[in-house]
Amino acid sequence: MTERLFSEVISARRATPSFDGSPLPDEILSKILKAGMEAPSGYNIQPWRFVVVRDKEQKKRLREAAMGQPKVEEASAIIVCCGDLHAPMGDSLDTVLIESEQYGFSKEKNQQMKEQLNKTFTSPPGNAMGVAPDYAVWVNRHVMIAFTTMMWMAEILGYDTAPMEGFFEDKVKSVLHIPEHVRVVALLGIGKLKGADKPYAGRRKLQDICFSNHWGIDLKL
Ligand SMILES: Cc1cc2nc3c(=O)[nH]c(=O)nc-3n(C[C@H](O)[C@H](O)[C@H](O)COP(=O)(O)O)c2cc1C
Repeated sequence: MTERLFSEVISARRATPSFDGSPLPDEILSKILKAGMEAPSGYNIQPWRFVVVRDKEQKKRLREAAMGQPKVEEASAIIVCCGDLHAPMGDSLDTVLIESEQYGFSKEKNQQMKEQLNKTFTSPPGNAMGVAPDYAVWVNRHVMIAFTTMMWMAEILGYDTAPMEGFFEDKVKSVLHIPEHVRVVALLGIGKLKGADKPYAGRRKLQDICFSNHWGIDLKL
């Protein structure tokens, strides 16, 4: 399979309005998910969790939870991207640390990290050093990196993608049986475009968005 050039994909990608429903081969899905799992995360905690919805009936139910958006049902697969608020503790953290020991990370250093994380993630939310983060921001920060990595990988492999925030989190959780301590961050539809793509809507100018050294100071490029 020929992979598309990343720079070309960045300029050509559109949020897909409609999918043709053709199946997504397992090997492609696996490549996409593994790309997401290679994303970086603070302390390598990897708090992302993915529920892949391909079953016809389940896609129908998910569509209902996603404000009736037809592309949820049309997509070959929907990756429901979630964040586990318990990832920095307990078994989940131990699994990450044991894995890292296989790559040469020391038990002692990992133990120190575990103590630091226990302190941080059992404190009330805040943003100063050594104090716990705002948990919704924390989980969103990580999951969206994995989400975006999967989106690009799908596009590089010749598939079309649709990012979605139009859903009711409580309804999605109920349809997919997602536990309390897990947040639903975004839905990623993957498949093949049906019909015409959405036109490019443009982007703001670099001078409006990027500053030099201080907020509000023009970055001259
Ligand atoms: C996090 C996120 C959530 C989005 N949610 C939806 C959505 O629920 N439904 C939809 O039709 N488009 C959704 N979009 C697509 C945007 O409308 C689209 O990316 C934007 O208009 C720019 O168009 P482009 O991606 O084709 O350049 C979402 C995009 C992002 C990044």
